[in-house]
Amino acid sequence: MVKFYMSSEQEKEKSKKYYPLPELSENARVKSMDEYKKMWKKSIEDPDAFWAEEAKMVDWFEPYDKVWIQESKYDDNFVGQWFVGGKLNVVYNCIDRWIEKGYGDEIALIWIGEDDTEKKYTYKTLKDDVCKAANALKELGVEKGDRVCIWLPMVADLAIVMLACARIGAIHSIVFGGFSAESVKDRIDDSDCKLLIVADQTRRAGKAKPMKDNLEGIIEECSSIEHVCIVKVTGADTYSYDKDVDFTALMDKQSTDCECEVMDAEDPLFILYTSGTTGKPKGVVHTTAGYLVYGMSTNKYVWDYSCLIDLKGVKPKDRDVWYCTADIGWITGHTQIIYSPLALGAISIMYEGVPTWPHKGRFWELCQKYNVTHFYTAPTAIRALMKFGDEEVKKWDLSKLKMLGTVGEVCNWPEWKWYWTVVGNGSTGEKPVGRPIVDSYWQTETGSYMMVNFGAITPMKPGSCTFPFFGVNPKLLDEEGDEVEKTNTQAYFAYDRPWPGLMRSVWGDHPRFVNTYLKKFDGHYFTGDYAMIDDEGYYFILGRSDDVIKVSGHRLGSAEVESAINSHPKVAESAVVPYPHPVKGSTIFAYVTLMTGVDPSDDLKKDIQKHTRKVAGPAVLPEIIMFTEAVPKTRSGKIMRRILKAIATKQDIGNTMTLANPEVVENLIEEREKLGEIKF
Ligand code: WT7
Repeated sequence: MVKFYMSSEQEKEKSKKYYPLPELSENARVKSMDEYKKMWKKSIEDPDAFWAEEAKMVDWFEPYDKVWIQESKYDDNFVGQWFVGGKLNVVYNCIDRWIEKGYGDEIALIWIGEDDTEKKYTYKTLKDDVCKAANALKELGVEKGDRVCIWLPMVADLAIVMLACARIGAIHSIVFGGFSAESVKDRIDDSDCKLLIVADQTRRAGKAKPMKDNLEGIIEECSSIEHVCIVKVTGADTYSYDKDVDFTALMDKQSTDCECEVMDAEDPLFILYTSGTTGKPKGVVHTTAGYLVYGMSTNKYVWDYSCLIDLKGVKPKDRDVWYCTADIGWITGHTQIIYSPLALGAISIMYEGVPTWPHKGRFWELCQKYNVTHFYTAPTAIRALMKFGDEEVKKWDLSKLKMLGTVGEVCNWPEWKWYWTVVGNGSTGEKPVGRPIVDSYWQTETGSYMMVNFGAITPMKPGSCTFPFFGVNPKLLDEEGDEVEKTNTQAYFAYDRPWPGLMRSVWGDHPRFVNTYLKKFDGHYFTGDYAMIDDEGYYFILGRSDDVIKVSGHRLGSAEVESAINSHPKVAESAVVPYPHPVKGSTIFAYVTLMTGVDPSDDLKKDIQKHTRKVAGPAVLPEIIMFTEAVPKTRSGKIMRRILKAIATKQDIGNTMTLANPEVVENLIEEREKLGEIKF
């Protein structure tokens, strides 16, 4: 966690409670904290009744027999099965049913390009495009249960092809556009994807960058791939491979009719890879019904926006406008741009570009232009925009905004305060009131929010994700798995029961799922995070307890970054740890041991950085490199990252008794001194 120096005045401000504008609660779905508490209690005492009520939001092809079966809460049986026997299709719920209910000409999704090109999809036009893409996939032999890898920038086709997969029951595996071709290959191989869908090029801040060409020499090695489908973004020529298909042309000649595949409640909807403690990313598997119901339920109650599921007295065309700035390559984009808003019948905005191009107020411009009412972004984006000063925000009319939100890491006081006062125009003083900042805590694994304030009603504390969502029962545990009763004390963060949207497995490695999440504390799902609770029951997340590094809210596994660095021909070994960064939250601090006889130099540092980005993707930059003779290890050869973290940040290194090579520590401290103060 980044620590900021705070004056006592700031400490006082920070420890206050902040209140949502009172008018928000008048017509809210949950009107008061008392009501929230009652509903939460009921959801814990009788989860079946609670989730049965929520499941009514879904149009089922065939009803389910039982809400939840959990044979035992241990090991493999923890998650159980949800909505057992039910048949449905997620895309039918996102699109077709709204047409059947007479909303076909209403807006579903607005895609905006960097250059202001705009595609406004109604439910009807969205269905047409999704069906064309689905038929194209079918023509290429894709069937229910097949895996399709999608590696695209934030173009509208990304939304179309993911929905096309879900329509025909194919399992999509989306890889973030900022990852490398090699990481695409690893993910394709891991889940035997039949197809890869990729763009010819990407547009980024006014420049075209190659995408398909990066696959040369790599995709040829993926034995499961039958076709490489190219989506035309810039229309540039790319190197050709005999499995290439011009997907844009193929789509154009398809019909706009395509049946929705009937899926079982527990059929996988998608796989999304995420970093863990080993070098190999985990393919997180989400299912059809549980994921859908949970995402809809969280978004409906937390944001309380008007949507077709419940218009709250507004006309369909006057619905609230939801804008989530995430990339669809991450879980946030999956759940918060596509599946939950569409299934609820909300208007969702999808923006292609970066927040700072063509100008520094781009997000706020879009909020004004599209009358955004609910705006959801990440603390790292807030910190980046905050640097440009208040004027960049004040230029725009943000009066339509009702609620703001964050996700991905702790929203610390400096950026929280700025978001509250400058963007939200919230008041200060004894009882500050303003547009709520929804602090949502969740993970790729959890499908949607676990801890979150209900925008309209929950009094906020800056930096706190407040209280659990319905059906979610958090536990703070010590090393032995006993509950930590003390307040303001760091503990392991776990849950004593599943909820419908929790992942079901790691693709192809079910034991890894059980070992990673369910074994540390028997009968609990363990998040990998530390957390604490304060005297008033507010939860605060204190960061990862494992080797996951959060850079700009993106999750990187230390071992993955290290293996990319180690593949540099002059590197013998490396160890990476997070280092506080004013905008990114954390950046990567790498300890690098060179091959014998190789001389350290600044040029070599640059070359290692370049190499790492090439291997792991532009998103993966070891920003600080320190050359060392060796790194501290345990007797079993495990790198002691705890000590390396302390050395990097010049903290007390604590106990070195368990080290196999304690003598290296002193040298590391000296080297760190020589590096001096690190400026960004
Ligand atoms: C990790 C999950 C789920 C969307 C994006 C991240 C951290 C997430 C918060 C928050 C403090 C947060 C946790 C978590 N995290 N949200 N509101 N406050 N920390 O998904 O990449 O799977 O990362 O992000 O450490 O375990 P992800």
